[in-house]
Amino acid sequence: MKSLSFTLIASLALFTACNNNRQNNQEQSNDSINSNTDSAKSESAQLPDAKAFQQTIDGKQTNLYILKNKNNLQAAVTNYGARVVSLLVPDKNGKPTDVVVGYDNVRAYAEGGDTYFGAIVGRYGNRIAKGKFKLDGKEYALVTNNAPNHLHGGNKGFSRVVWGAQQPNDSTLMLTYVSKDGEEGYPGNLTAKVTYTVTNNNELKIDYEATTDKKTVVNLTNHSYFNLNGQGSGTINNHLMMINAYRYTPVDSTLIPLGKIESVVGTPFDFRSFTKIGARINDTGNIQLKYGKGYDHNFVLNKNKRTGLTKAAEVIGDQSGIVMDVYTKEPGIQFYGGNFMNGTHTIKGGKKDDYRTAFCLETQHYPDSPNHPAFPSTTLEPGKVYKTSTVYAFSIKR
Ligand code: GAL
Repeated sequence: MKSLSFTLIASLALFTACNNNRQNNQEQSNDSINSNTDSAKSESAQLPDAKAFQQTIDGKQTNLYILKNKNNLQAAVTNYGARVVSLLVPDKNGKPTDVVVGYDNVRAYAEGGDTYFGAIVGRYGNRIAKGKFKLDGKEYALVTNNAPNHLHGGNKGFSRVVWGAQQPNDSTLMLTYVSKDGEEGYPGNLTAKVTYTVTNNNELKIDYEATTDKKTVVNLTNHSYFNLNGQGSGTINNHLMMINAYRYTPVDSTLIPLGKIESVVGTPFDFRSFTKIGARINDTGNIQLKYGKGYDHNFVLNKNKRTGLTKAAEVIGDQSGIVMDVYTKEPGIQFYGGNFMNGTHTIKGGKKDDYRTAFCLETQHYPDSPNHPAFPSTTLEPGKVYKTSTVYAFSIKR
């Protein structure tokens, strides 16, 4: 027991020091850890049982891979849909807290509804109007799995297929999927590579790469549902959030961008300074909130550089003190506030995916870009490499 509390204390100290580059008030922090040791032991989140992820789906082996750093940050990722299943982060008391929604077993992912929990979505994350777009004058028709539109790559997309997996070390997982020419209606054989890395700076880093043999469109993102107080622990509406965007892309009633890029100033979409997620969610006069059934919109990120990672958002768990910073090379971020969650799915630990108990921050190119020439392009040509990265970085609010 002594060694357990020592491990907790040691890992919290490392976690805090690495993250905040701040001087530790060791005395104060040890006091708060000691007074919470019992609750930490009883309620600590754990990683799922790897055996529950060992199945054969579509003739391919699925598995669960554990990534960890030296500060007790741990991620569990399955190659079914390249999904982040669990992400354990110590909270302000050092208690391991699972900040992403997921299932206990791979069957639930394969049989569950279209939630996209933790998945890599593609070939095109987000919506394409009526599933149609043109390249060099030729029209392509995609599956309209979110009538009347195409959503997150189609019926299976990249989230309901088994990826090839290779784990070169304790902190890295490399996943590969080859999407065939014509799959879900997209042109070209596309080879997608996604690398998850857990760094010693308490980050979950996602590097994306893709190549094609025919001109196509690509927009890859991760669809993790976060609750920084712990998955299944109630509303996210009291989390504080900042999004580094003064513009967003308003949508029609089917969530397709109108093509305009509008200012967030004076609207419930202004998250430029920290605001409770739910503070303005019931602003019934706002047509955009009505169309989204809450927040379900793409924000145009303020970029200080053309390339390289820029800070997109920061969110603070009101109970856990866990802070998540999002950095990306992408021009946009979809903030989805869990409006379609309705408690019908049993998530890890027998909990329910209740209404607005998680949020997604999907770094991306804007929705329906293939039909909006003024938006940053999502076209990928043969011989070119699609390359992008996103980082979710964790620390503790003091
Ligand atoms: C989000 C999307 C929402 C909803 C959700 C899955 O990315 O913006 O409209 O489809 O995925 O339920």
